[in-house]
This record gives sequence, structure tokens and C-alpha cells, in this order.
Amino acid sequence: MKTVIDLLIHNTPQLVTCAAPNSPKRGNDMQDVGLIENGAVAVVGEKILAVGDSNDLLSRYTARQQIDASGKAVCPGFVDPHTHVVFGGDRAHEFEMRIQGASYVEIMAAGGGIVSTMRHTRDASVAELVASATRRLDEMLALGSTTVEIKTGYGLDLKSELKMLQVIEKLDQSHPCDILPTFLGAHTVPPEYKDDPEGYVDLVINDMIPAAAAWYQDSHFAANEAPLFIDVFCEDHAFDVNQSRRILQAGIDAGMRAKIHTDQFNSFGGVATAVALNAISADHLDFSSSAEIEILAESDTIATPLPAVNFNLGVDYYADARQMIDAGAIVALSTDINPGSAPCLSMPLVMAIACRFQKLLSAEALNASTINAAHAIGLGQRLGSIEIGKQADLLILKEADYHHIAYFFGHNPVETIIKRGRVLS
Ligand code: NIG
Ligand code: FE
Repeated sequence: MKTVIDLLIHNTPQLVTCAAPNSPKRGNDMQDVGLIENGAVAVVGEKILAVGDSNDLLSRYTARQQIDASGKAVCPGFVDPHTHVVFGGDRAHEFEMRIQGASYVEIMAAGGGIVSTMRHTRDASVAELVASATRRLDEMLALGSTTVEIKTGYGLDLKSELKMLQVIEKLDQSHPCDILPTFLGAHTVPPEYKDDPEGYVDLVINDMIPAAAAWYQDSHFAANEAPLFIDVFCEDHAFDVNQSRRILQAGIDAGMRAKIHTDQFNSFGGVATAVALNAISADHLDFSSSAEIEILAESDTIATPLPAVNFNLGVDYYADARQMIDAGAIVALSTDINPGSAPCLSMPLVMAIACRFQKLLSAEALNASTINAAHAIGLGQRLGSIEIGKQADLLILKEADYHHIAYFFGHNPVETIIKRGRVLS
């Protein structure tokens, strides 16, 4: 007698599991995608019941919905662990300015950049922000991202930051993607505190962080045991190392896990600060030194280079993700989707860039975008790989070989998305 289950995907030439029981992958392990040839995956409800040889699973299970994946590779849904997908307006004019020679930092120092998006975001209603972010999330999901972290950071006052948190919660309730919230009140100093940056740091620490923590307690994220993160932009024209440390510590004291934007344009100690605070991830890392890469390698803080930023800014340097992996750091990838430095919705494109400019192998890029990215948002035990008991977030690809995800570029490699066991397309 065969056991009746909900969903059986079988006959895939490559079941790419990215399996890594208990911990993320580092070093040579990142080259191992846990490939099962002629594989199958059995699903009951939202979860994976069995993983293995197709003939074996076909002999044991019969499914209400059976998908023959002959000629199509199957891999975990992508996890995008660093995004600013909620924002008002756009910055197309800055794109034109950069083409004509202005740099991202010059535009930011002149009052454009993050502050320009802040104005549009403050002016937008919750409904407008939910609607525009939903359109972007729909496209991200179509491109294979089944879990997405989203940061605040375009409100930069108490009311508008709380509005962004409310938008993020609504998105999680309405969108098929799993969403994780990050409080980034310290994204930059808003114009009203231009002459008193310390005053803004005090506001973040004394008012905003307690309010975000209180919001979280009553949110359904807390009810679902989904963590809240605290993040800071540690950079010239944003927050220095001491300010960053104080802000992250205040978040940690309020129950949040730390993340950091650091070494995007300068390097002045953000990595060591993040690691000392046991940050879950340190992101950007373009200017991190070999010594700082070593600090990451000896830690559990996940190094998250964001190569769509470099590509978008048209610069000729990238974070040395190759050295990070070779040194033994845990490396994840992310789009950093935002209206300024990375208007990019596509994890496959990020992987394509990482392979070409950071010399990641396809296997390393895929592990960085699935299991390691899941750990970068604290969900590595729940999703990010095709393993028994994990959430059934799966992609059936158009091609038989997973290398095509990054080998081709500017395409959508995904044919069918399964989210929490439900076939979406
Ligand atoms: O991760 N670097 C800081 N924050 C974003 C950019 C945000 C923006 O330009 O609006 C980033 O690149
Ligand atoms: Fe960012």
C-alpha cells in the first residue's frame, strides 16, 4: 500500500538539495549542492516528508498532485536576506546623473539618495506603499525568491518608521513570500537633524528602538517566532563605528539580532564591531581588508556581499567574495533591492554577477542564495534547503542543469514555484 501524500515531484534529473543539516555552509562545502540525480521530493501540507531517488519515492507514495519534472532541475526557493523593497517614489533621475559622471556618494552628500526616497516614503500612505512593494515582491517571487527580508529606513522619524513596519507586516500577511522585518532607523541622518547627528542617534536609541520592539511584541512576526533585526549604515555621511555600536547594542538589548551595512565605500572597523556584537550578518564588504575577512572567517557572522550594487553603480571593484569563501567565511548573496544603489529584483542576476566578477562557482552562488541566505535571517533551520521536515519552498527550473541559473543572465530560470507546499504557477 502506498502512502497518500499531497505533492510528489519526481523524475528530476537534478534534485539540488543544498542540504546542510543544522549549520550554514563554509569553505569547500559551498561547492557541494547535495545533488541527487533522478530525484524526487514528497510533500505533506507545508513540509517536506521525503527526499531521494525517484523510483524509490514513486514506489512508496501516491500524491494528490504529482509533477513529472523530467528535463527540469529542482532547487530550494531563493532567500533574499537584505532588501529595501518598501519605498516611495523612485530615483531614475539619479541614474541619469550617475551616467553623466556623478557618484552615489556625491549625490547622497548633496541631499539626494536615501533622503530623497525618505521624502517620498514619508508622503506615501500605508496602502500606497503596500501596493508598490507588492508589485515588486510579485516579480521577485516569479524570479524565484520565496523568502525576503525587508528593512525600514526611509521613514527616519518615529511615525514614518513605524509606518514602514506596519507596511512590512501587511505584506507578510498578504503576500505568498515569507517576509522578515529589520529596523533600520539608522539608515542616514534625516535633514531635520543635519546639525545634530548625535541627537538623531539618541532619538533612534531612546525612542525608535523601544517603539520598534513594542511593535514587534504585538506583531504576528513575534507570534510566528520570526525574528526582528536591527541594522545600521556604518559609513561616512551616515553613522560612525561608535554610533553604530551603540545603536546595534540598543537593538540587541531590546531583543533584536544585529545586522550591519559596512565597508561599502570605506573601511573603519564595522566588521570587527559587528562580529564583537555577534551580528547575524555583515553586508556590502567591498572595502573589507584581508584582516577583516579573517575576522569574518573565524566567526559565525555571515558575510553578505551585494554585487548588484557594484554592477548598478558601474564601478570596477567588487567585494572579494572569493577570498571570503577561501578563508572559510559563511557567504550569502542578496539583491539589496532599493531605488538608489540596486534597483534589482533578481536573485538569478545577482548570482550571475557574483560568478562573473567575484569568481564564485555556480554551486557556491546557489548555496549562498539558499541555505546560507536562510541562516542570514535566522531561518536556516526552517527553510533554505530541500531536507526532511523543512518548509516545502521549491523551484522547478526550465533547464535540466542548475548551472543555467547563473550561466545565462537577464533571464528567468524558474518555471514553477512551490511555496509552503502550494504550487503557485
Ligand atoms: O544597501 N547603503 C545603504 N543603503 C542602501 C542604499 C539605499 C539607497 O540608496 O536608497 C544599500 O546600498
Ligand atoms: Fe542595503
